[in-house]
Amino acid sequence: LRIAVLASGRGSNLQAIMDAIAAGTLDAQMVGVFSDRRRAPVLERAERAGVPAVSVQRKRFPDRQAYETELFSRIDTTRPDLIVCAGYMRLLGAAAVDAHAGRIINIHPSLLPAHKGLHTHQQALDARASEHGASVHYVTAELDGGPVIAHACLPVLPGDDAERLAARVLQREHPLLVATLRLFAARRIELRDEAIHIDGLRL
Ligand code: GRF
Repeated sequence: LRIAVLASGRGSNLQAIMDAIAAGTLDAQMVGVFSDRRRAPVLERAERAGVPAVSVQRKRFPDRQAYETELFSRIDTTRPDLIVCAGYMRLLGAAAVDAHAGRIINIHPSLLPAHKGLHTHQQALDARASEHGASVHYVTAELDGGPVIAHACLPVLPGDDAERLAARVLQREHPLLVATLRLFAARRIELRDEAIHIDGLRL
């Protein structure tokens, strides 16, 4: 499985994927890491691992369409089977999403459809949720709106604040994302007519 990662910041999810590949527990190849930021730590992580790291700065383009055309032409050059948004802090336009239908996934720090957008941990606390977690979902042009592939759930504990909750969720994000990518690597998952098909799941 050829994976490209699109990310804006820290890159701990990228690191988890690269570590699993290096450990031989994920049958995949990291073909490129792409960022809308010039100095994102995620780019340094890629470089350290010998993975091509590309930044395409949004501010260098007159509008989102022009920016995304350049970004995705760079991504497409690496011929990824799957594009993983891992802390990519921008919405993707319909043209980019449609051109890569069923081939873009995102990791989001809440149990979607609950708590879309930003500040998800605070949202969960404000809603007095007893459970929280992370989701991996297919990307559509709607913010955090595509079909959900997998959840990692954990309890909200007494005394939790947004920071503590975020740290516990992040620990669960990494194995969740890697496990989901194993489904893709085994070619067991596919999006058909906006529905998820997982091969070999028998209930
Ligand atoms: C993660 O919490 C992810 O769910 C969210 O942004 C954060 C990225 O973290 N979309 P990192 O850059 O992978 O460390």
